[in-house]
Amino acid sequence: ADVPALRAALLDWYDAHARPLVWRTTGGVRPDPYRVWLSEVMLQQTTTVHAAPYFEAFTARWPTVSDLAAAADAEVMAAWAGLGYYARARNLLACARAVARDHGGVFPDTEAGLLALPGVGPYTAAAVAAIAFGRPANVVDGNVERVMARLFAVGTPLPAAKPELRRLAASLVADDRPGDWAQALMDLGATVCRPGRPLCHACPLTVRCAAFASGTPERWPLKAPK
Ligand code: ADE
Repeated sequence: ADVPALRAALLDWYDAHARPLVWRTTGGVRPDPYRVWLSEVMLQQTTTVHAAPYFEAFTARWPTVSDLAAAADAEVMAAWAGLGYYARARNLLACARAVARDHGGVFPDTEAGLLALPGVGPYTAAAVAAIAFGRPANVVDGNVERVMARLFAVGTPLPAAKPELRRLAASLVADDRPGDWAQALMDLGATVCRPGRPLCHACPLTVRCAAFASGTPERWPLKAPK
């Protein structure tokens, strides 16, 4: 694959079509790691539309990670109601308190440092490292997996294909605009390279997409026969 041309095409598309999500910044401004972390944790269990008002409420009430760390458990649990999966809210508080107590209220700025925080898994560590700190981390969620499966017409079905999809995603990561790159892939997967009926006419990558060339892009990612 012509990686530089593919990257340029998707980053140009992102510049024109990035979703105006409340936790995003524009004009190359690095967002606050606390806001990135909070949004990414919320987005692991709900849609961008559902998460937005919760994100606004949390950041208005607790503007910094140290404010959140100092909140009473019951207050945070009540504010989380409606997002579901309370274990995640407990992890959220445990992480905020670790950052406040062990790191002086400053998030670690590397993927490894983030991964060492309680409740922070590989996806969240990579997303915060890329988006908040400009690290060239490999940010892979379900959207990114689907985009890779189609771009490269991966012949292995999910979930067995996951390691290969992760390697393919890593092959496209570069030092230039890592946070925008990660979010461009996720936006493309959410709005254009959708699970059903992908909108290939609106995709900046069709000329490089093996699934598009096949004529039946919606077949990917392949599913294991039942
Ligand atoms: N899904 C999870 N995090 C996201 C982000 N930062 N941008 C777009 N979609 C996302």
